[in-house]
Amino acid sequence: MVKKMDMLYEGKAKKVFLTDDPDILWIEYKDDATAFDGKKKGTIMGKGELNNAISSIFFSMLKDHGIENHFVEKISDTEQLVKRTDIIMVEVIVRNIAAGGMAKRLGIPEGTPLKSTVVEFCYKSDELGDPMINDYHIAALDLATKEQVAEITDITLKVNEVLKQYLAERKVKLVDFKLEFGLFHGKVLLSDEISPDTCRFWDSETNEKLDKDRFRRDMGHVEDAYREILKRLTEKA
Ligand code: TMP
Ligand code: ASP
Repeated sequence: MVKKMDMLYEGKAKKVFLTDDPDILWIEYKDDATAFDGKKKGTIMGKGELNNAISSIFFSMLKDHGIENHFVEKISDTEQLVKRTDIIMVEVIVRNIAAGGMAKRLGIPEGTPLKSTVVEFCYKSDELGDPMINDYHIAALDLATKEQVAEITDITLKVNEVLKQYLAERKVKLVDFKLEFGLFHGKVLLSDEISPDTCRFWDSETNEKLDKDRFRRDMGHVEDAYREILKRLTEKA
């Protein structure tokens, strides 16, 4: 087991610590919740524990499906070890059903199914509100190479297929989600977290929202929704 060392940085939802192994980081999931690039702030009781559990399950499952990622192991209720990557400053958004930003931007009613999967890239900057960019911007700003963007897109679409199927079996629709990638010794590696903070999950039958939209839109029962997702992931292992 590695030893926890100094804090590297504190993000909006997680604290990141160095360890005595230069390749391994120690992550602590917090109950803090933010939305709209940090403009809305709050606490979701128990979120750290729930997201640590949920993200661990998703990343282990993806690994079992041949999708390599940064997850190493869950070490406590709120902590996990991950591989240390140099984060690529691009957020990758995948959409199966129109919702949120896309529904608003294009004037499509939320819930409209999309004929094909949409992949969007955003420049990771709270200050600028994570503006949408395309592969030309990514190359021009030197955020990643063309080959890396191709690999990121390929992995992203695979994650979508595996996650969609896995969730459908648990009566959850995968509406959209966000992924982040890093470079581990120069190789593209899926990183960050996959949780109700970073995905839109709707109940397959009722379309009830089981994700952070309950917090963004002040709908209440936020913690219950996260707990329900964990329940569905663990009940049918
Ligand atoms: P959007 O509809 O607001 O663009 O969000 C699409 C999906 O990406 C949604 O599941 C939430 C997730 N997301 C994040 O996790 N972090 C972000 O900063 C943004 C903009 C979206
Ligand atoms: N960028 C947002 C935030 O500040 C993400 C969101 O709305 O989920 O947390």
